[in-house]
Amino acid sequence: MIAIRSEREIALLRKANEIVAEVHTALAAMIKPGVKTRELDAAAVEMMRERGAASAFLGYRGYPAATCISVDEVVVHGIPGDRALRAGEIVSIDIGVCYKGYYGDAAVTVPCGPVDAARRRLLKVTDRALTQAICAARSGNYVEDIARAIEAVCNPAGMGIVRDFVGHGIGAAMHEEPQIPNFVTGERGPRLRSGMVLAIEPMVNLGTHKVRVLRDGWTAVTADGKPSAHFEHSVVVREDGGEILSGSPTLIWGRADD
Ligand code: MF3
Ligand code: CO
Repeated sequence: MIAIRSEREIALLRKANEIVAEVHTALAAMIKPGVKTRELDAAAVEMMRERGAASAFLGYRGYPAATCISVDEVVVHGIPGDRALRAGEIVSIDIGVCYKGYYGDAAVTVPCGPVDAARRRLLKVTDRALTQAICAARSGNYVEDIARAIEAVCNPAGMGIVRDFVGHGIGAAMHEEPQIPNFVTGERGPRLRSGMVLAIEPMVNLGTHKVRVLRDGWTAVTADGKPSAHFEHSVVVREDGGEILSGSPTLIWGRADD
């Protein structure tokens, strides 16, 4: 059963996601060479606390931090720590909060200083894939139409769409039905209806789609060591497409030209 949210619930989900967007804006502004990923996490913890929200990630299945900060070859679930950012890297910031029992979840990937043309293109393609996916999140479509939209952007660009992690329904828990693969599986999945709330999150690699998880049990890296990008929004399914709840983190880094 996929929940259909009332406008009252959607208002609370919007509030949770506005907090997510505020944290994104602040953390993206902190992305500079020399900054340690744990400093970003500490800033996020403080901002969530000030806003009466809690991290949705901390303690989730034993996850040890409030945010996921995934640098360059790290695809997702990078654990903040002593890694210092370097110019030329791209940094995925994934933020999830719980506010009054409702969840917000979004991710954006930003450049640290000037980055090469291949990374700029990766950011642009992944951002556009998410935008197209959100347009496909309209009532009457099927979950697989979201994947189709992502493939239509990423496959011609020759980039690898990660298969081992998927998007998800979100609401009174961070992960609800349905799962939302970013690639076409051959199963059309459930039909989308107005009021469903989805976290859509393409993860796209410059090289192979294959990933492996490090021995910490969390950090997912590309199998070939090439960079990876991750953009995510929480959206409400509407008649004419997805309504973004989690602000506009895709606008943070700007649309650098190739
Ligand atoms: N945005 C990710 C997700 O939807 C983040 C989860 S990190 C975790 O799964 F630590 F909470 F698992
Ligand atoms: Co998510």
